[in-house]
Amino acid sequence: MELHGKIAVVTGAASGLGLATCKVLAAAGARVAGFDRDEKKLQALKSDLGDACLTRVVDVADETSVKDGIAAVVAAFGGVHVAVNCAGVADAAKTVSRGEPFPIATWNKVIAINLTGTFNIIRFAALAMTANAPDAQSGERGVIVNTASGAASQGQIGQAAYSASKAGVIGLTLPVARDLAPQGIRVVSIAPGLFDTAMVAGLPDSVSQSIIDRMILYPNRMGQPREFARLVQHIVENPYLNATTLDLDAGARMQAR
Ligand SMILES: NC(=O)c1ccc[n+]([C@@H]2O[C@H](COP(=O)([O-])OP(=O)(O)OC[C@H]3O[C@@H](n4cnc5c(N)ncnc54)[C@H](O)[C@@H]3O)[C@@H](O)[C@H]2O)c1
Repeated sequence: MELHGKIAVVTGAASGLGLATCKVLAAAGARVAGFDRDEKKLQALKSDLGDACLTRVVDVADETSVKDGIAAVVAAFGGVHVAVNCAGVADAAKTVSRGEPFPIATWNKVIAINLTGTFNIIRFAALAMTANAPDAQSGERGVIVNTASGAASQGQIGQAAYSASKAGVIGLTLPVARDLAPQGIRVVSIAPGLFDTAMVAGLPDSVSQSIIDRMILYPNRMGQPREFARLVQHIVENPYLNATTLDLDAGARMQAR
C-alpha cells in the first residue's frame, strides 16, 4: 500500500519505536494519529508533526478508550488504512522471589497492555478499515503491524509475563490475517531484539552492555528506533508480506540473563 495520503494509527506514539514510526510514516506522506497514555510527550509529537498529525490519550488496555480513539480518527481524517501497535510495558518479576509468588497484578497489567491492548487496536482498526474503498493499485483496504519481541521465544529471567504477552502477539498474527484476508487487510508482526528506547534505558547499563557484548551477533549495538520504523514502512508498502512475524534483531540470541 502506497503511504502517501493514507491515514495511520500508531500506539505507543509518545516514545521509542512508536515515536520513530510516526515520524517515518509522516515523512512518507501519511497522516498520523498518535495514541499513548503519556499526554505530555504526545504534545511534543504534535508540535513536531503539525497538521499531518493528531494525538490522543488512549489506554490500549481499555476497550472504550480504543473504540473512541479510532472513532475520533475516522471523524477527523476520514478513515484508517494502517494500524501500528507499539504500546507496551516490560514489568518483570521472578516466578518465585523472596518467598512470594509472581505478583498477579503485574501479570495482569502486562497481558492487558501488550496482548489485549494489541488486540483491542486490531479489532477496532480493522472494523474501520473494512469501510475503506480498495486501494486503486494494490486492492488492499488496510495493513496492521504488531510489535512482538525476541522474548516471545527467548525470554530472560523475570520475563514470564512479558514473554507470554509477546508469544500471544505472534500467535494471533496468523489467525487474524486469515480472518481479515477476505477484506483485503494484511497483518504482520515484528519481533525486535534490543532497541535504544526508554524501555531499555530502564535497565542498568551493565545489563544492556552485557546483552550487547554476549548476545547480539552483528552489528554489535542496540537497534535504532528508526530502523524499526523503516521496517514498518516496508511492510506497509510491500503487498506480498502477510501473516508472518519478522525478526529485527541483528541475529541476537538471548540468554537467561
Ligand atoms: N526497546 C526494545 O528493546 C524492545 C524490544 C522488543 C520489543 N519491544 C516492544 O516495542 C514496543 C515499543 O517499546 P519501546 O521500546 O518503544 O518502549 P517505550 O517505553 O519507549 O514506549 C512505549 C510507549 O507505550 C506507551 N504505553 C504504555 N502503556 C500504554 C497503554 N496502556 N496505552 C497506551 N500507551 C501505552 C508508553 O507511554 C510509551 O510511550 C513495546 O511493545 C515493547 O514491548 C521493545
